[in-house]
Parts: sequence; C-alpha cells; structure tokens
Amino acid sequence: MARRKKIYEGKAKTLYEGPEPGTIVQYFKDDATAFNAEKKDVIDGKGVLNNLLSEYFMVGLGQVGVPTHFLKRLNMREQLVRSCEIVPLEVIVRNYAAGTMSKRLGIDEGTQLPRPIVEYCYKDDSLGDPLVTEEHIAAFGWASQQDMDDILSLALRVNDFLSGIMYGVGIKLVDFKIEIGRIYDGDFQRLVVADEISPDSCRLWDMETNQKLDKDVFRRDLGSLTDAYSEVARRLGLMPNNPASITKPTLIN
Ligand code: TYD
Repeated sequence: MARRKKIYEGKAKTLYEGPEPGTIVQYFKDDATAFNAEKKDVIDGKGVLNNLLSEYFMVGLGQVGVPTHFLKRLNMREQLVRSCEIVPLEVIVRNYAAGTMSKRLGIDEGTQLPRPIVEYCYKDDSLGDPLVTEEHIAAFGWASQQDMDDILSLALRVNDFLSGIMYGVGIKLVDFKIEIGRIYDGDFQRLVVADEISPDSCRLWDMETNQKLDKDVFRRDLGSLTDAYSEVARRLGLMPNNPASITKPTLIN
C-alpha cells in the first residue's frame, strides 16, 4: 500500500495529503502540550474525543450557515477537510475572564465580561503567540481590512452558536480560540473556520460547580483529561450512555 504524504506535524494533529486535490486528512493525536510545549504528555483517547467533538461543532456550524473547512469524519482519529491557507492569527473570543486576560488585566477568573471580547494573537510558537492589535495585522499585511471584518463576524457567530450549544448542556463557554482559513476559488477567496474546535481550544466550565471540562485540567493538573472531555461528549449525546450496550464483535462461523 502506498504511504500517505505527511504535510505537517503539529502538537496535537498530523496533516496528510487527502485523496483528492484540495483536500487534507487531519489525524488527531493523543499528545497534549501546554505552556508552549514546555509541558507534554500522551493522554490515551484524547485524539478520538477531539475528532468526534470537532466534527460535531463544525457540522453544526455548517448547518447554521457558518462556513468551515470540514468535509467528513473518516474514522475514529481522522477527518477529511478542505485544504486552505491559514491566516497567521489565533482568534480568541472571551465571554468570561480567564487565563492570560485575567493575568494581564487583574480580573478574577470567572468574571463575566460586559460583552464578548475578541482578541488576536500572532501565530508564532517561537514568540509564544503574542497578542497583537488590528494595527499590527494591517501594517504587516497578515489580513486585509475586509478580512478582519469577516473574521470578526465569523468569530462572533461561532461564539453565539457554541455558547448556545453549551448552555443547553449546562456548560459555560468561558473562552475559545479559532483559526481561519482562506479558500481560493478562481479570482475569489473566502474565509472559513479551520483547524479544530475542541476542549483543547476552549474553556468549558460546568454551569453549577465551575468544574473545568477543558485543557486547563491538563495545564493545572486537575485530574483526568479524558474524563473531562468524555463528560462534554456525553452531555452532547456523542457517547453511548451505557457502554455495555455496544454490541461486541461476534465470530462468524
Ligand atoms: P489564553 O487565556 O489567552 O491563553 P492560555 O490558554 O495560555 O491561558 O487563551 C484563551 C483561549 O484560547 C483558551 O481557551 C485557550 C485558547 N488558545 C488556544 O487554544 N491556543 C492558543 O495558541 C491560544 C493563544 C489560546
């Protein structure tokens, strides 16, 4: 069998050339990293859960008219996506203060913000993804003004969609990060939500207890990461309620 061509190996995913031009296979690894890869571990099953959760969010976004790069899930760890040029920005939307915003501005974690706040970080691991303003983005040509208008609108639509879904299952969407891809169509380009949407790139807190159900469990050593991600998947109806009900393979005589 021919070996697939690896295009890129990231911290949590590996990208392979897809079966048709313009497609890519995203393979979700079990590797977890934090603090710019200073903290690393392999968490059994994380890739499977993120593949499932990201599919669920991307499909849902498509259904409400938010364009994404997602085409279809191929198997437990892989999904087929449209290849796109990634805008070199981490687009962060915050509904409650947490993480770097709390540190930077001295706001207690969990404080509800007066309105969703969108931030941009320049995607460069060697610099630690620094926060940048629209002035930097325009001056360095990372995105045009039209792109920025579209990116803001996409980010807020994703926020409305995800907050609603999470609210429905008793989870507060504290913040999240998305990446944006450009897809070229002849002389035109359109922007789509790319990469992944999973508890690796969101902060998700239980509405009642504020229990963390996201990557902070790993960052801050708060327990089992797969238990946290499984709980999110379970509430969204993506896990069998009774694992014993799964039919086991039977021998065919
Ligand atoms: P932020 O609080 O800025 O950083 P940190 O997670 O290091 O405290 O992150 C805000 C949200 O965006 C959080 O849910 C994590 C996510 N995020 C990523 O997934 N990748 C990134 O590179 C960045 C900067 C943020």
